[in-house]
Amino acid sequence: MRAFSRKLVAWQRRHGRHGLPWQGTRDPYRIWLAEVMLQQTQVEAATPYYLRFLERFPDLAALAAAPVAEVLRLWSGLGYYARARNLHAAARVVAGDLGGCFPDTAEGLQNLPGVGRSTAAAVAAFAFGRRAAILDGNVKRVLARHFGVEGKDEQWALAESLLPWRGIEAYTQGLMDLGATLCRRSNPGCGRCPVAASCVALRQNRVAELPAPNRHKPVPMRTATWLVLLHQGRVLLQRRPPSGLWGGLWAFPEPVGAAAGYCRRQLGCSIASPCKLDVVTHGFTHFTLVAQPLRCVVKRALPRAESGGRMWLDLEQAPHAAVPAPVRALLQRLG
Ligand code: ADE
Repeated sequence: MRAFSRKLVAWQRRHGRHGLPWQGTRDPYRIWLAEVMLQQTQVEAATPYYLRFLERFPDLAALAAAPVAEVLRLWSGLGYYARARNLHAAARVVAGDLGGCFPDTAEGLQNLPGVGRSTAAAVAAFAFGRRAAILDGNVKRVLARHFGVEGKDEQWALAESLLPWRGIEAYTQGLMDLGATLCRRSNPGCGRCPVAASCVALRQNRVAELPAPNRHKPVPMRTATWLVLLHQGRVLLQRRPPSGLWGGLWAFPEPVGAAAGYCRRQLGCSIASPCKLDVVTHGFTHFTLVAQPLRCVVKRALPRAESGGRMWLDLEQAPHAAVPAPVRALLQRLG
């Protein structure tokens, strides 16, 4: 075994993280769920969602049987909602086409919706003890610093070549733990690093410059108007189309053209006293959303029940619906 891998395994066993809720099991369902949640979310933020999810969907069959809206409701606030839709789609593939059995190799797992190469490898290692290489954001940083290797293909080849023949679980967790707890982007804990002696970046005094930051293109801005329609203590929410931004979640109607005409034609109501609220901005990976909420009082009520993809909800209840985080924040301010 390469010295790097041997030291990392020994370090993980003594100093790594051991009490995380998805550890101490070989259940591929629990491990897969955790790895998907942790794709773009840190451990502290994901943990309460993970526990709530398992309470509501204790096994694959429960998740596959649930409507996607229920999955989105429990996911709401975590962001990157394509993960939730893919999670549900994958549960249905495994429960249906695969007879309830998760694929037990990284290649098989990678065919599931929402499971990329690194996630597939993590599940294969933790659930089935497979020798498979992970390469997430933290691991990229560890490899860039320790070996001075930065290209994508080169890093994958390096990650494959480092895999130990024994202790793949501790090794995989060790890479994640090293990246998250010591080999941090800023203020790294090199003094406690188990592989500091062979670290290229440390030797060359380049820890701060590796990995080189991505040359981010400036992200474009998208604007929207949010109609905050109020009637007798209730607010109107509209379900977004199933695919695309916040697909399947509930949000404020976005008028095309002038608000009053839109309300009359599309919602069958007339509005009074429109008032601009503070602008809401939200950063996505590829653009920044700048939404202007327009608070209006509706003079004639619409049906209370969910109908035609719209529903009136009590203001206290609305933040608990499957709404994206910035919509929830605004609803809480209104309530
Ligand atoms: N990030 C991604 N997978 C993880 C795991 N299994 N434990 C901790 N952090 C992670």
